[in-house]
Amino acid sequence: EQIEKNNFDHFMLKEIYEQPSAITDTYRGRLQVDAGLIRMAGVDDNLERFLNAKRIVIVACGTSWHAGLVAEYIFEDLARIPVEVEYASEFRYRNPIINSDDVVIAISQSGETADTMAAIKLAKEKGAFVFGVCNVVGSSISRETHAGAYTHAGPEIGVASTKAFTTQITVLTLIALKLAKAKGTISNSDFHMHLRELETIPGKVELALESNDHIKKVADKYKDARNCLYLGRGFNFPVALEGALKLKEISYIHAEGYPAAEMKHGPIALIDEEMPVVVIATRKGHYEKVVSNIQEIKSRQGKIIGIVTEGDTSVRDLADYVIEVPDTIEALTPLLTTIPLQLLSYHIAVMLGKNVDQPRNLAKSVTVE
Ligand code: G6P
Repeated sequence: EQIEKNNFDHFMLKEIYEQPSAITDTYRGRLQVDAGLIRMAGVDDNLERFLNAKRIVIVACGTSWHAGLVAEYIFEDLARIPVEVEYASEFRYRNPIINSDDVVIAISQSGETADTMAAIKLAKEKGAFVFGVCNVVGSSISRETHAGAYTHAGPEIGVASTKAFTTQITVLTLIALKLAKAKGTISNSDFHMHLRELETIPGKVELALESNDHIKKVADKYKDARNCLYLGRGFNFPVALEGALKLKEISYIHAEGYPAAEMKHGPIALIDEEMPVVVIATRKGHYEKVVSNIQEIKSRQGKIIGIVTEGDTSVRDLADYVIEVPDTIEALTPLLTTIPLQLLSYHIAVMLGKNVDQPRNLAKSVTVE
């Protein structure tokens, strides 16, 4: 097993560190920067279905559902297609309205999640075109869907999903960009800029991983917290949800993710000197507004851990700790801001002596209801 872990202490840490190569594998052969092209057979062969879709419905569970939420921001922003993101378990039982011109995208690392499978079958019965985004090749969901795109992240063993999440976002970004180009909702120069930027992401993830020792110190400081709040806005709101989920899953510390501006409608009541608040405050996307949210936390003595763009000074002045990530375009920031949150929960769980790769009560894939 030690060989399989490639000398990392846990599969989860190995998989966190595999993300630069996993993301590269996801876009290899698909992203053709020089030709200014994105090739994805599953989308190319069904382009009309995608272009005629009045909306896209995304169904998924757990971390894959969070990837769906990121995709909602990306699809609507770039390709101007309305997107709804549904928990598969809710969708399947609530008599959803599905039209034959809907495209349903099912996201699943394992490709075996029972609720997601049931949602797919229902969507197919109603005549929708169902597209799968799976990691496990040949899995049940990849066979049940009309077409799909694999994430090519390689096997993910740790129960807490890491590289599957970032590679799902990568695949969904490629699809969104492809559709944006075909629909003409993105200019040529913007399209090329996005392709070039996407190609730099693995190197930037590598840089984000270099904060590991610093993140360990932050983890040591907050490992005894009873609760933790994660805030983000825009593309990074789902990243806040995912950061909180990671902490819950492996450290058993109660954590909540919230859209930063919604804090004043509830969670702000919880803030005192005992409450660590992780705030994603990258320079792109509502930065000033997030800084003012940070001020509100500070004035209530909350402890602030800021996830910031390198070189940031405003948040540094207010926060107890900052963790830097490289700069990128707004739509791609989730691929970078996710990394420190994965490492933070990993180190806290290790310091608390928890079983990181096999947390209590959780399964890698939930194949029964
Ligand atoms: C389980 C796993 C999660 C995963 C979720 C959905 O709860 O522990 O890590 O996100 O199932 O799994 P899927 O394979 O469909 O992405």
